Amino acid sequence: MVPTASNTTRSLLVVFAAVGVVQAANLTSLVNLFIGTASGANGGSGGNAFPGAAIPHAMAKVGIDVNETPRQAGYIHDNSTVTGISLMHDEGTGGNTAGGYGLFPLFPLLGSNCTFSDCPVGINQRQALRAANTDAASPGYFTTTLVNGIKFETTSTRRAGLIRFTYPSSTTPNHVVVDLTDDLQRSFQGNGRLTFDSTSGRVELFGTYFQSYGESNYTAYGCYDFTPPSSSPLVGTQKIVANSSGTYQSPATAATPLTFTPSTAANFSAISYAFAGATIPAQAGALISLQGGDSVTVRFGISMISTAQACANAESEVPSWDFDAVRAASEGEWESVLEKVQVNVAKENANVVELLYSSLYRSHLVPANLTDENPYWDNTFPFYDALFCSWDTFRTVHPFLSLVSPREWAGIVNTYVDGWRHTGFIPECRANTKPGFVQGGDDGMPILGDFAVKYAAHASALGVPLDDLYQALVDTAENTPDDWYTVGRQNTAWTTFDYIPTAWVDPSGKTGLPTREASRTLEYAVGDFAVRQAAKVLNKPASDIEKYTNRSMGFRNIWDPNQTSDGFNGFMQKRFANGTFDPTPPNACSPVDPVSHSCARGTDNNASSWEYSFFVPHSMATMVNLMGGNETFISRLDHYYSAGYFLAGNEPGFQTPWLYHYANRPDLSALRVRDVVFNNFNTGVGGIPGNDDSAAMAALLLFHILGMYPVPASKQLLIGSPLVSGFKLTNDLLGTTTSFVVDGFDPNGLAAAPPSGSAVFVKQITIRGKPSESLCWIDFDDVVGGGEIVITVDADQAAAQARGCGSGSKALPDSLGTGGF
Ligand SMILES: *[C@@H]1O[C@H](CO)[C@@H](O)[C@H](O)[C@H]1NC(C)=O
Ligand SMILES: *[C@@H]1O[C@H](CO)[C@@H](O)[C@H](O)[C@H]1NC(C)=O
Ligand SMILES: *[C@@H]1O[C@H](CO)[C@@H](O)[C@H](O)[C@H]1NC(C)=O
Ligand SMILES: *[C@@H]1O[C@H](CO)[C@@H](O)[C@H](O)[C@H]1NC(C)=O
Ligand SMILES: *[C@@H]1O[C@H](CO)[C@@H](O)[C@H](O)[C@H]1NC(C)=O
Ligand SMILES: *[C@@H]1O[C@H](CO)[C@@H](O)[C@H](O)[C@H]1NC(C)=O
Ligand SMILES: *[C@@H]1O[C@H](CO)[C@@H](O)[C@H](O)[C@H]1NC(C)=O
Ligand SMILES: *[C@@H]1O[C@H](CO)[C@@H](O)[C@H](O)[C@H]1NC(C)=O
Ligand SMILES: *[C@@H]1O[C@H](CO)[C@@H](O)[C@H](O)[C@H]1NC(C)=O
Ligand SMILES: *[C@@H]1O[C@H](CO)[C@@H](O)[C@H](O)[C@H]1NC(C)=O
Ligand SMILES: *[C@@H]1O[C@H](CO)[C@@H](O)[C@H](O)[C@H]1NC(C)=O
Ligand SMILES: *[C@@H]1O[C@H](CO)[C@@H](O)[C@H](O)[C@H]1NC(C)=O
Repeated sequence: MVPTASNTTRSLLVVFAAVGVVQAANLTSLVNLFIGTASGANGGSGGNAFPGAAIPHAMAKVGIDVNETPRQAGYIHDNSTVTGISLMHDEGTGGNTAGGYGLFPLFPLLGSNCTFSDCPVGINQRQALRAANTDAASPGYFTTTLVNGIKFETTSTRRAGLIRFTYPSSTTPNHVVVDLTDDLQRSFQGNGRLTFDSTSGRVELFGTYFQSYGESNYTAYGCYDFTPPSSSPLVGTQKIVANSSGTYQSPATAATPLTFTPSTAANFSAISYAFAGATIPAQAGALISLQGGDSVTVRFGISMISTAQACANAESEVPSWDFDAVRAASEGEWESVLEKVQVNVAKENANVVELLYSSLYRSHLVPANLTDENPYWDNTFPFYDALFCSWDTFRTVHPFLSLVSPREWAGIVNTYVDGWRHTGFIPECRANTKPGFVQGGDDGMPILGDFAVKYAAHASALGVPLDDLYQALVDTAENTPDDWYTVGRQNTAWTTFDYIPTAWVDPSGKTGLPTREASRTLEYAVGDFAVRQAAKVLNKPASDIEKYTNRSMGFRNIWDPNQTSDGFNGFMQKRFANGTFDPTPPNACSPVDPVSHSCARGTDNNASSWEYSFFVPHSMATMVNLMGGNETFISRLDHYYSAGYFLAGNEPGFQTPWLYHYANRPDLSALRVRDVVFNNFNTGVGGIPGNDDSAAMAALLLFHILGMYPVPASKQLLIGSPLVSGFKLTNDLLGTTTSFVVDGFDPNGLAAAPPSGSAVFVKQITIRGKPSESLCWIDFDDVVGGGEIVITVDADQAAAQARGCGSGSKALPDSLGTGGF
């Protein structure tokens, strides 16, 4: 593993470990926010993780922005220049490489360097380098220092927070730029306005910008206060110098010339730009000069509704302007999240502990809680944004929340149901409050199915109306939106053919991006399985259950038995409406594709056929059979890894290290999970293989560490040998703490290729004193059921191979095609 020297938490951690302290002072000190922040330029790892200040599921994600792309989350851990500190960011996403949000950046300027009307306020003029090794962060706090000595600090609440600049000198008034026009994409569309009142010290502003993923725009509102309330100890330490504070602006058509208007001028007024319908190059904002001390604390509020609401959010969430108190409250919220998974910090491997808590942190950063900030309809339900995208998050993030954060998860589930209530379809992707592009199926479906199977009995306590949830599933499974590229599915095709035909002219006239037919078929099958699962648990008519059971087996229709690759027969392929296959090479879109193909949302499929032919999580026994039986399936999985077809950062392949379970070889899964974890994840800035994808990778790593992997829309979790010697999971809805003990845990197993003799093979699983029939899966109710679960491991692989998943009819994990679920 690559250590990082980027922040102080690591040295803290070493101290704890060295002196054998039983528990760290607090769990927040174990989080490394810089994992996954390396530059993605020139083939770097580019995790796009967000390392700034935020509370769990915050709307405000405050952090610095750099002048280098790609920079999806604004920040890059390198020596690029800083253009400002801004109020909202995405977490770990793909999308526009210039980034998402980055709204209303502030930038501090030294008083000695300029006077009001000649300050370098423009985005290109003001940017500055950071002093070496000054970036540091912990949950709820971020700081950096520019080479000119100005220190940035920030901490926040859900929709508000504080930003503090400390200047090296206070002999002349120092300045702060408030930038209206430069979001990360530089996509200002007009429909924007800024007002500054030098008496109250308040800047109100809003503007319209492009979303980071999708084809629409959004309007956001901000409020900055520069004058502390009379009750604040800061009174007198920062006074606005009115005649050298005011606004600056260029014409809508160009970035220059800039006109500076001091707030004392007779003609001082608001700046505003009409809606242009396209990006305009204007530079505009406020420049505030302050005197009184060497530090300036600025309070901000944000809103998607109005500037009045942005200011009200600031006033209600940060009444006191007490930086330390806001920071402590944020840290306290994070401590409560991190306590949901407890390990013996002193005893476990320090790298694994750092990966565990850093991943747990990121898994609770998004989606963002925009309750009371829905610009489109009045809500009686919670409103979450940054569902970016469900294709990424349904596999691991939501199942992880289902284990330890049922209340928060229920709020998010309600957002999906409410999206259907107001648009007719379950949302799939939502970026900056607007729909984004659909990548596969409508993968909000497995999320709702998962909630039904796990929490139906608690739904009314959690405020989730199950009749609505089921209707949302059925409508999304049956109806086709006019444009299925931004929500819903192409059900016209799916229900006619039981697969998505390629090159088909849809007589309904409905449109969407007519590509990725094979990978879409596989995602649709999982979506229909989710409806089937919900129908079953909610006692819906048998005809519904049968219908969606049948449809979820439609993946078999794109299995082309005649496709061959590297001696393996049969691959999922595109197919014409007449039944003839339209194959592409199975290695197309894999990391070792010898020629260039159009992947992602291109014309081919959204993964190689080598990868997505394994993506049938609800009926893997069918795939084992189609691929030629257990032995061939195992050698095919082995070959998939050894030939380089595995793409660690691509979601459809997340489950593949665990698939040996379905061929009765959990011993091989134990080794493959270690191979995948220790070859692809580490605690360095490049420690995530690809984008964190709204914490999809973080939650995946959590599952690998805890020795489990969730089967979508089901209560089954595949189980294996964890990377810690024990852990406790707390579920505050059920009032349970389940203690997992790994009996015989062997630290030598914490390697990509554990030396022979390492005890990594599951020998027995005992659930609250009773031996489990299966050594391959565990029921959700047991995972959250309290009491003690003992996983006994040993080093005898031959014996493990002989045991397989155990004996009895329920030893292998379920598959729909063989009568499971
Ligand atoms: C930034 O780092 C890169 C790579 O280490 C180096 O090539 C470049 O010279 C550095 N630039 C500055 C301004 O320090
Ligand atoms: C700002 O002033 C400092 C000294 O106060 C000087 O060293 C620096 O070069 C100046 N920077 C600019 C951009 O003028
Ligand atoms: C951008 O927003 C305006 C309203 O502010 C709206 O009329 C327009 O259709 C939007 N453009 C797109 C591409 O969504
Ligand atoms: C601003 O006002 C102060 C105090 O009245 C005065 O000394 C200073 O010259 C003024 N500055 C400008 C730029 O007008
Ligand atoms: C405001 O008035 C000043 C002084 O009359 C003038 O120089 C400046 O151009 C005016 N600014 C604008 C934006 O009209
Ligand atoms: C966490 O630990 C740090 C350092 O020991 C301490 O400053 C902070 O107050 C603690 N926070 C909480 C919420 O316990
Ligand atoms: C989301 O925000 C609402 C409104 O403040 C609050 O009631 C709810 O607890 C929040 N949920 C989470 C998970 O933070
Ligand atoms: C499901 O498939 C079976 C077997 O092909 C068929 O007999 C049955 O009619 C189908 N049921 C529905 C509801 O489509
Ligand atoms: C596979 O190839 C055989 C022999 O060419 C052909 O008869 C059969 O129809 C093909 N199967 C499919 C599903 O295309
Ligand atoms: C099926 O349709 C495709 C695409 O139009 C065509 O190339 C192929 O020859 C057709 N197959 C048959 C058997 O007609
Ligand atoms: C699949 O799509 C996602 C999202 O667009 C993208 O991040 C990923 O790289 C794609 N994978 C392949 C192999 O095309
Ligand atoms: C794979 O092995 C399991 C367990 O021995 C067995 O039940 C199953 O039938 C085998 N599947 C195939 C396709 O051989």
